[in-house]
Amino acid sequence: MNIKILTLFPQMFNDFQNTSIIAKALKNQKLNLELIDIRDFADNKFKQVDDYPAGGGQGMVLKVDVIYKAIQSVKTDDALVVLLSPKGKVWDQRKAYTWSKKYKTIILICGHYEGFDARISNYCDLEVSIGDYILTGGELASMVIIDSVARLLPGVIKTESHLNESFNNDLLDYDVYTKPVVFDNKIIPEVLLSGHHKNIDDWREKSRIYNTYSKRKDLLKKAQLNLQQKNFLNIIKKDCKEEEN
Ligand code: ADE
Repeated sequence: MNIKILTLFPQMFNDFQNTSIIAKALKNQKLNLELIDIRDFADNKFKQVDDYPAGGGQGMVLKVDVIYKAIQSVKTDDALVVLLSPKGKVWDQRKAYTWSKKYKTIILICGHYEGFDARISNYCDLEVSIGDYILTGGELASMVIIDSVARLLPGVIKTESHLNESFNNDLLDYDVYTKPVVFDNKIIPEVLLSGHHKNIDDWREKSRIYNTYSKRKDLLKKAQLNLQQKNFLNIIKKDCKEEEN
């Protein structure tokens, strides 16, 4: 996958590109990142990329003509052009899966300062937000998106590693443990040490349902539970009620 990032701060991506899974994906050519400095497309001698808001008000606004030129310099027919913005559709694991399968080239535009000229959205396919809070720019948001998509690309991490992880089928992941078996009087659940694979699988399924029920009930509304999961949910609800009483 090719990802082209339009940014005023390309240096923010230095550590990101040189660390862990992303570094490995780049080295193995599963992922290619291209950083484009928006300032290179400013046409006056002061390299001005922003200007005062029309109608007055606080802050500076990124200029549409500069961003347009930057997009045109990297745009290809197959590219998905994405504007990172708190006004966008909220990012989630489902979108990460879709993007990892569907797109060969993605252009991410990182806004900065107070905002960007609203006409920029005419040259983008969609706007994406990583959550309901305001960042100082789109750079961190684009790193979040790249990280969550890159780890799903074939050959980047083992498929088994993300088969059961949180948000697959709208359920949270099960709890995991490692040695020591006892720490501060707290013991690893016995079944996990039993070597009985069916019982371990059942325990893990129950743990996923319990975690989702106790921490993110909102996800359960969307989740399509199978019969076993529904049974576990009923048992957990009953147990929780008994504990309350
Ligand atoms: N730019 C500023 N805040 C943002 C957010 N929450 N998501 C994406 N881009 C942003």
